[in-house]
Amino acid sequence: MNLLLMRPIKIKTAMFVIILILLSVFRESFCYASLHTVGNEQFILKDCTTEKDIKSTYEVMYQLRPEYTDPNLYVKFVQHLMLNENYKLTALYTLDSGENCVGVIGYQIKERLYPGKFMYIADIVVDSKMRNKGLGSILMNYVEKQALEIPGVKAVILESAINRKQTHKFYQKRGYEIKSFSFRLFYNTVQK
Ligand SMILES: CC(C)(COP(=O)(O)OP(=O)(O)OC[C@H]1O[C@@H](n2cnc3c(N)ncnc32)[C@H](O)[C@@H]1OP(=O)(O)O)[C@@H](O)C(=O)NCCC(=O)NCCS
Repeated sequence: MNLLLMRPIKIKTAMFVIILILLSVFRESFCYASLHTVGNEQFILKDCTTEKDIKSTYEVMYQLRPEYTDPNLYVKFVQHLMLNENYKLTALYTLDSGENCVGVIGYQIKERLYPGKFMYIADIVVDSKMRNKGLGSILMNYVEKQALEIPGVKAVILESAINRKQTHKFYQKRGYEIKSFSFRLFYNTVQK
């Protein structure tokens, strides 16, 4: 075959292979975003990956985790969890009134002898002014869908403080069952 004819084909193939390799290498870095309409308002759901993304969730997360009085320490700890515990953070933002975070969910895939591989929802909170509109459900749907798509995942598991009766109803309506008690031995009174 004429060498001159082969060259452009080879270049195209090589470029295609390079693009495929780059896609597979950076696949983890691409973050997900989707639009959601609730009533007349529009929201965007986005995976948080950068320091700025994580910081944007601080004020809402503080409503659930008031232990974190310093936003910078919160960001550092979330980054530590992301790096070492496969922790992920996804947040909902308003679109019409600027990009303000109104809800956030933190989750990770875990594995134990029992029940095997599972999705663990570590944190979920919606801004107190924005609850009961369906935003918490958007966050839960997103993580539950991911769990279904990961091969081998057997369940979605979460813990909730005994006093959060309304939140328990929210989970139970979604099909979650109460299956165990969580026992803790604290070493100082501050943590209680
Ligand atoms: C738990 C939490 C995340 C749920 O978020 P949310 O945005 O209020 O959730 P939703 O609006 O999707 O659903 C909440 C309720 O509103 C109802 N609802 C959903 N869409 C609605 C709508 N358009 N209009 C009226 N009610 C609606 C749901 O049926 C649900 O009812 P339920 O409480 O009886 O189950 C939120 O209440 C929260 O941040 N709580 C404080 C922090 C907390 O407890 N976090 C969990 C720690 S384990």
